Amino acid sequence: MSRASAPHRAPDIATRVVAWQRHHGRHDLPWQGTRDPFRVWLSEVMLQQTQVATVRSYYARFLQRFPDVRALAAAPLDEVLALWSGLGYYSRARNLHRCAQVVVAEHGGAFPATRDGLAQLPGIGESTAAAIAAFCFDERVAILDGNVKRVLARALGFEGDLASAVEQRRLWDRAQALLPPAPQMVAYTQGLMDLGASVCSARRPDCERCPLAADCVAHASGSPERLPLKSRRLKRGQRRHALLWLRRGGRVWLVQRPAPGVWAGLWSLPQYESSEALAAAVAGWPGQGEWLPELQHALTHFDWTLAPLQWQWPARAAAPAALGDGRWVTRDEALALGLAAPIRRLLESAAD
Ligand code: ADE
Repeated sequence: MSRASAPHRAPDIATRVVAWQRHHGRHDLPWQGTRDPFRVWLSEVMLQQTQVATVRSYYARFLQRFPDVRALAAAPLDEVLALWSGLGYYSRARNLHRCAQVVVAEHGGAFPATRDGLAQLPGIGESTAAAIAAFCFDERVAILDGNVKRVLARALGFEGDLASAVEQRRLWDRAQALLPPAPQMVAYTQGLMDLGASVCSARRPDCERCPLAADCVAHASGSPERLPLKSRRLKRGQRRHALLWLRRGGRVWLVQRPAPGVWAGLWSLPQYESSEALAAAVAGWPGQGEWLPELQHALTHFDWTLAPLQWQWPARAAAPAALGDGRWVTRDEALALGLAAPIRRLLESAAD
């Protein structure tokens, strides 16, 4: 057959993503260039709900303190939470710690080398397990995080509603069928992430720069941002509580948040159902109080307004009785604990 008569076929999706990643993808991320599952796992967990720019510094600090899974497993949870403080979604840190302990106790300190083995561990979902298996062990398994779903749904013209588990599974099957041979899994997996994070953005995809544009179904439709489809939108709730910032002789009263619940295991200020409930609790106390500006904090399912009352208890008066479980700590001791980010900012704002 002459060359001229050979039918023209664009290289397949994986080939183009791999070539694009080599020239245009990211190569300087701190968790690239390693095959150490501990490091890859840590980066993937941190990146689940946090931007790359934020993760960089946390990742470096975390590795400095916990260079391997044994160091992490042996550490007190409080210390892990303290290093996580500010990254949010603290169940990730608690699972991280538990996972390290399981890897040490049940796997002799070595992470399982397959997606299915990894997915049995606490806090490692299917997509994170696939990312670790692809990056560290070249396993031919598809990742499907938010960015990658967007790239593939658009390229393939996938019209299923991704709010449905069945449709997610269908997209996953399609993703699995696109995978390159094992030696290209690292570049391919990173390339899809990079495309989703840069070129194929949610609102304004830059199709001019996309290696998949030539046969991207969503691009051909003229409105690529329409895909992926996701019907269910979270209805955000509103909650409001009051916080007692009780100070006495250079110390502050902290309580540990109960589990399960928001900020479980972190140290915080005592919380009250309402400003009225807190005002009633402090009525008749010695010293004086001042309501501070409200804190606004956005969580996954609700916006939280916190009204802090700072109460200065005179050092010469006997310490208050019946405060329940908690600790008097200095400002420096407080800042070394695992504190919820808004509480940390509040305590940092104190003059002493
Ligand atoms: N998001 C999730 N995993 C990532 C990775 N390996 N690199 C960049 N962003 C990511």
